[in-house]
Amino acid sequence: MADPAVDPARRNWLMITCGAGAVGGVATAVPFVASFTPSERAKAAGAPVEVDIGGLKPGEKMVVEWRGKPVWIVRRTPEQIAELPKNDAQLADPQSKRNPSELTPEYARNEHRSRKPEILVVVGICTHLGCSPTDKFVAGPQPSLPDNWAGGFLCPCHGSTFDLAGRVFKNKPAPDNLEVPPYAYLSDSRLLIGEDKKA
Ligand code: FES
Repeated sequence: MADPAVDPARRNWLMITCGAGAVGGVATAVPFVASFTPSERAKAAGAPVEVDIGGLKPGEKMVVEWRGKPVWIVRRTPEQIAELPKNDAQLADPQSKRNPSELTPEYARNEHRSRKPEILVVVGICTHLGCSPTDKFVAGPQPSLPDNWAGGFLCPCHGSTFDLAGRVFKNKPAPDNLEVPPYAYLSDSRLLIGEDKKA
């Protein structure tokens, strides 16, 4: 009789590390949900998710699933952090004042929208109609983006753009910044997504 245990390799889709500019791997990973064990199904339904970010290098992104949503974790470079304040005048809600109780926990109501400046944690779902934006980490002129692009995300569905703090640019279909989920640091290299009481 076949071993019902889930192949550990399949679980690895929960922690997909992508290089700068790469597209996240959630879309290809979703079919594996059917093979979850009961405890994994409970996790997908809402339990907090623990993530090791120790191997995440500057400029890289990883994706984990929490409550059926893709959560992006990006380790920003010092240069990317330095660019964030320069975006403010072009953003719809630079201080994250809109719907703060739903979109931005108190500890992320700052310029970088995160507990630590270098680590961004956001739900990778566009606030317009729910598409998953694409990584556009490389700065500079490129198709569908302004010439002064400093790096961020482009939603391919209707062209909304977000900076590397998940803040939406003005005059785009998306009304709000990307959601910051509740999260806490268990250590320098371990994050808990979905729970922030342990901070
Ligand atoms: S769903 Fe992202 S711009 Fe419409």
